[in-house]
Amino acid sequence: MPSLNDIRSTFLNYFERNGHTVVDSSPLVPRNDPTLMFTNSGMVQFKNCFTGVETRDYTRATTSQKCVRAGGKHNDLDNVGYTARHHTFFEMLGNFSFGDYFKTEAIPYAWELITKDFDIDASRLLTTVYHTDDEAFEIWKKVGVPEDRIIRIATSDNFWQMGPTGPCGPCTEIFYDHGDHIWGGPPGSPEEDGDRFIEIWNVVFMQNEQFEDGTMRALDMQSIDTGMGLERIGALLQGKHDNYDTDLMRALIEASANATSQDPDGPGNVHHRVIADHLRSTSFLIADGVMPSNDGRGYVLRRIMRRAMRHAHLLGAKDPIMHRLVPALVQQMGEAYPELRRGQAMIEETLKLEETRFIQTLDRGLRLLDDELAKLPGDAALPGEAAFKLYDTYGFPLDLTQDALREKGRAVDTDGFDAAMAEQKAKARASWAGSGETKDAAIWFDIAEKHGATDFLGYETEVAEGQVVALIKDGAEVKQLGANEEGWMVVNQTPFYAESGGQVGDSGTILRAGGNGAVADTQKMPGGVFAHRVTPTEKPLSVGDPLELRVDHARRSAIRANHSATHLLHEALRETLGDHVAQRGSLNAADRLRFDFSHAKALSAEELAKVETDVNAFIRQNSPVETRIMTPDDARAIGAQALFGEKYGDEVRVVSMGRKATGKGHDGNTWSLELCGGTHVKQTGDIGLCVVLGDSASSAGVRRIEALTGQAALDHLVSQQQRLSAVAEVLKAQPAEVAERVKALVDERKAMQNELAQLRRELAMSGGGGAAAPASKDVNGVAFVAQVLSGVSGKDLPALIDEHKSRIGSGAVLLIADTGGKAAVAAGVTDDLKGSLSAVDLVKAAVEQLGGKGGGGRPDMAQGGAKDVANADAAIAAAEAVIAG
Ligand code: ALA
Repeated sequence: MPSLNDIRSTFLNYFERNGHTVVDSSPLVPRNDPTLMFTNSGMVQFKNCFTGVETRDYTRATTSQKCVRAGGKHNDLDNVGYTARHHTFFEMLGNFSFGDYFKTEAIPYAWELITKDFDIDASRLLTTVYHTDDEAFEIWKKVGVPEDRIIRIATSDNFWQMGPTGPCGPCTEIFYDHGDHIWGGPPGSPEEDGDRFIEIWNVVFMQNEQFEDGTMRALDMQSIDTGMGLERIGALLQGKHDNYDTDLMRALIEASANATSQDPDGPGNVHHRVIADHLRSTSFLIADGVMPSNDGRGYVLRRIMRRAMRHAHLLGAKDPIMHRLVPALVQQMGEAYPELRRGQAMIEETLKLEETRFIQTLDRGLRLLDDELAKLPGDAALPGEAAFKLYDTYGFPLDLTQDALREKGRAVDTDGFDAAMAEQKAKARASWAGSGETKDAAIWFDIAEKHGATDFLGYETEVAEGQVVALIKDGAEVKQLGANEEGWMVVNQTPFYAESGGQVGDSGTILRAGGNGAVADTQKMPGGVFAHRVTPTEKPLSVGDPLELRVDHARRSAIRANHSATHLLHEALRETLGDHVAQRGSLNAADRLRFDFSHAKALSAEELAKVETDVNAFIRQNSPVETRIMTPDDARAIGAQALFGEKYGDEVRVVSMGRKATGKGHDGNTWSLELCGGTHVKQTGDIGLCVVLGDSASSAGVRRIEALTGQAALDHLVSQQQRLSAVAEVLKAQPAEVAERVKALVDERKAMQNELAQLRRELAMSGGGGAAAPASKDVNGVAFVAQVLSGVSGKDLPALIDEHKSRIGSGAVLLIADTGGKAAVAAGVTDDLKGSLSAVDLVKAAVEQLGGKGGGGRPDMAQGGAKDVANADAAIAAAEAVIAG
């Protein structure tokens, strides 16, 4: 009996043999379709190949595509577990032709594969064609299907569309008759919904494109898109009627049975089926970068996870079990989908975290549900209020409550639930409006309410399609933004990072048919709305427009390097300076990084050098940078750095980088571990180089380090080198000798300055004219020297006074400097005389004669100044008179 893995290979090999390129499954989050929540069929990744917008180097392809149908247009969530063929996750096998072959080849290919390679009994098969498609009818006849087994269908069942817009066309389907022991009728009959005739393959003749306004055009190319659910064909080839009885699904059901110690085929079977299905969708979604959240795709993931957890609970599981089933899934599917293996640890952690948290409220929520039901008469629906309380307080998504009630044959008053939800939003809004935010912000709140938070895809990709949901110009919502007009644009999903956590917002371009545009900045608005500051070029931009958003790659790479270097810097500072170092602010721009941290004093040159050396050692280590989602408490428990006083949500991203023998983290080998929502390099080596520019004071007790990374760091070093070379050239020295040379020059200059000062003093003593210093005159037994000087300033006088005093040994000195017509006066009295004669009196007497007032100092040395030096002789005489008494 072929396994599902064998069947997948047989399919792909068959088409490879027939000239098709085997293409990998695209991710579950469509990068090229803003209208789709999840990839829901094989053709999603080829959408633009059918319309001719995109060409590849092959025109025939075959895939086994991961699909999720939960949320959005195709939603099978509610039926999973209770039916034979509903899944939230399934694999779609397909072959594709892009303007290569068409109906005449596609039908025989399908027929040959299923009747020869798969060896299915042709007499059990019947087909359908679109009622007007005579051509397909004839081809089926030709391959050997009897006319009465080719059924014309006039409904949309045989006209396939991927969504409201996009490529589409009539299709033909192949059905298998499981036998008259099962109830049901052939397609098109009143009993067609029975289980007897099961569709196994849909072959679409892509020849039209559907537009939003309802019109349709014929495509230039005629193409083929087919889809065969692996689980269905698997069941058929394994002789089963139920997809959950195939080997792969069975292995998962048994893993669930083992983990819960519950018989796989006992009364708990439905729970095992739900768990097996949900294990696949949740694991694959996490592997493709979706994280549980309260919005958008993340919320669909959370709903599926919690639903599975309730079923595990119904099986009696008291502890988290979903994460324990992941190895069984990896064993089954890891070969075909290596991303499962790569993501295994992350998947297990994410499941365990969600389960651990949800288990805390699950029991209490279920009790509340029972209490509420007991209050109700008969089979009345659960009031919306109660369902809302379960949602709001106990984390029960509405469909989980509905699923729980389904077993009891009860429903929920969903209108009441919606009303309660609307009321809560109104309250939140009212309290927010009172928080003093600008009036402008009301617009963002409206947008958040109408369209939800923006889905950020930028951790995974820098290019994605999005659809414009709102435009804002001059503080008001508009339907259209004119060409070359700047405004704010909101899209349903974006790869652009909005400024937060010190990281600047992304810039880049928008591309759309007939005109592009520039995004200058991205900001985060209330309600998790990302606003892009956009200027459309060539033609106006309208709400509803689909477009491609492209982040400026070079700029984002530089920002990423700076942000990751900041984490390394933070850890290096803690290690060098101590654990008191805590982040106080940061800037991660494209051209530089800045990090503010608590530390009382300036860093020494040695400290700065050590920090820089450590950072660069971890850059060269080139170890992978990893991100995990955890509760803030768990993150702190493994040593993650968080911003003190910062409010964190229920879940945080924890970024780890750098390996160290004794470190932090789950494994105890992580160097830097921080709570961070920013974007980071993949490997530390991507930072290239980090140059610390220096440290300065930011505010009291806070230091600031600025640094450069990558090319900017190199440019800085090069320009410093150039400056050094220029200096070396002037000095006629080698760059290595510059410091020594400059030091010698500085020393030499100091010596010359000293010498110059000495010469100036000697010159001054001689009156500035080169003559000898004046002799002293005896005044009443006191040796008195008086002199008028030019070419010296007031501040030179004290040194000259000292010089005179030491020359005369005992006596008094009066010096008057002519400072360009004004006078600076100083007097000195030797220590032996200062008891009876004060220099202050001498200065005062002299200054008075010069038309000034006052003067001051000590008895041994005093100074003063006056406006006019002309009366210098009288001033000297006045001082002499003071000595004479
Ligand atoms: N795209 C087609 C389907 O999903 C084949 O059924």
